[in-house]
Amino acid sequence: CGIVGYIGSQQAAPILLEGLTRLEHRGYDSAGLAVLGGTGIKVAKRAGRVRDLADGLPKRFGGKVGIGHTRWATHGPANDVNAHPHTDGKGRVAIVHNGIIDNASVLRQRLADEGVELASDTDSEVLAHLIAGSEADTLEAKVRDALSSVEGTYGLAVMHADFPDRLVVARNGSPLIVGVGDREMYVASDLAALVRHTTTVAHLEDGEITTITAGGFTSARETVTLDIDPDAYDAGEHDSFMHKEMLEQPAAAERVLRGRLDERFGTAHLGGLNMDARETRAIRRVKILGCGSAYYVGQMGASLVEELARIPADAEAASEFRYRNPIIEPDTLYVAVSQSGETIDTLLAVQEIRRKGGRVIGLVNVVGSAIARECDGGIYLHAGPEVAVASTKALTNMFLGFALLALQLGRVRDLSIADGRRLIAGLQRLPGQIEEVLAQEDALAELAGRLAEAESLFFVGRVRGFPVAREGAQKFKEISYRHAEAYQTSELKHGPLALISPEVPTVAIVPEDELTDRNVGALHEIDARRGPLVVVTHDGVDLGGLAAERIVVPRNERELDPILLTVPLQLLAYHAALRLGHDIDKPRNLAKSVTVE
Ligand code: G6P
Repeated sequence: CGIVGYIGSQQAAPILLEGLTRLEHRGYDSAGLAVLGGTGIKVAKRAGRVRDLADGLPKRFGGKVGIGHTRWATHGPANDVNAHPHTDGKGRVAIVHNGIIDNASVLRQRLADEGVELASDTDSEVLAHLIAGSEADTLEAKVRDALSSVEGTYGLAVMHADFPDRLVVARNGSPLIVGVGDREMYVASDLAALVRHTTTVAHLEDGEITTITAGGFTSARETVTLDIDPDAYDAGEHDSFMHKEMLEQPAAAERVLRGRLDERFGTAHLGGLNMDARETRAIRRVKILGCGSAYYVGQMGASLVEELARIPADAEAASEFRYRNPIIEPDTLYVAVSQSGETIDTLLAVQEIRRKGGRVIGLVNVVGSAIARECDGGIYLHAGPEVAVASTKALTNMFLGFALLALQLGRVRDLSIADGRRLIAGLQRLPGQIEEVLAQEDALAELAGRLAEAESLFFVGRVRGFPVAREGAQKFKEISYRHAEAYQTSELKHGPLALISPEVPTVAIVPEDELTDRNVGALHEIDARRGPLVVVTHDGVDLGGLAAERIVVPRNERELDPILLTVPLQLLAYHAALRLGHDIDKPRNLAKSVTVE
């Protein structure tokens, strides 16, 4: 979900609406805002997009203080009543809330016993009533009082009719940033909503409650002025952020590599890891944790670490890891991978590891995000802001981050200098080769149009190619809404071959490597059942007479090939979704950063 707030001398509503538009990737099933003017608090909220909210906004909606919200439903369906802001029902208090109140049912009952009627199904509404019911003197004290009986996570912004010159905001486990303007102040859950107004900001810490007035805020936290290009938050001439971000991949890849490659010693320099050579050599295992696409690229990363550093490595969904009471070992290097640095499942896994004495590094894109701050060290991905829900450039840079990590780990163990230099040369070729894949967009669009007609597809690969297939299927299903299942090519005959028919296409990852012949053999079993085949492969690979369409990507070093095999699958998913008329950047039911468990 997204939060935005304003206090100053301008009309709040247009500023809030603009901010909400920039936060829609955080959730977009309902939106609302509240302003405080001469006649008290006014609220407008509804299911649907920010656009719908703006279209339906009452003419008289003046006020120079306001809060807004865009929602990703957790408790209660997406409807007008459950949309934020929530009020105390008497027009005195309005709040917007991100996160989950764990003891909401107890609090609801307590309020019901006191005769308070709740309008919505949400956990958030109780906060408005608790604040309204507090007898404390100041708004900040009321909020503190209310939160003392709350268990759970929150990013919270509060407005009160008796305190028209202020907003109070509070953070616990859900990000909030205060933006400092000229005699006006902003608050938002994400920088995207602030950059057009100010780049002077303060990140609130967990447990902090702050009063914001037009002239400043009460927290002792220092403000920083960020060096950000506001245009990075606009899609420009592109029809979607996803398209823009896909095409930015060559430049983003150059940024993550810049200054980190040492050709002389055939190694990488990752200053942020905070580990010396002795500590690096002591690592016996690498465990990678992430969610969604970050988890799949983590599997690619585990292969890189095993191949280059010969350290046993695997990836696991962070959302599962924490709940199986994992064994935390002192000589394991834990790696948390996350674009946003805010995904709660990944953050909680990091905290669990650290509680038990493990060492965790982060591969994170957003500088200063919660995961980056919790880790013992890390590698920033420098992909620039990523807005589309479907991750592209951040994912590519995650892969490159893993390649750098594997190279550095390998070179203090038994990776030779010659192999180190071979991989460095490969990494340096990658941005140009990604560009070559992107240049095939027209042909991939045509092919995607045909794949979009299938109700169901398989994506298959093996060993290095399997996480590529998993990521390809994930992208396809999340934005085209077609059923896409990833499978190991080798396992097809043990089950899913039963589903192969002329109506079910298979996208197969077949690089030129030690498994090419085996891969091709398995694909013949699909061909024999007249399953349509699309093969992502290298130039000149002998497909043994298969009736398959080819997508040809440039060869790099075998270890680095997976990322080049991944890029055409992004374009396939994108063009399939475009053909089907879906909203590319805001796929149904999903959100960019999932900050609730
Ligand atoms: C959400 C998004 C996915 C993303 C995952 C991890 O589920 O919908 O696209 O891969 O979170 O996000 P992170 O910010 O941790 O990389």
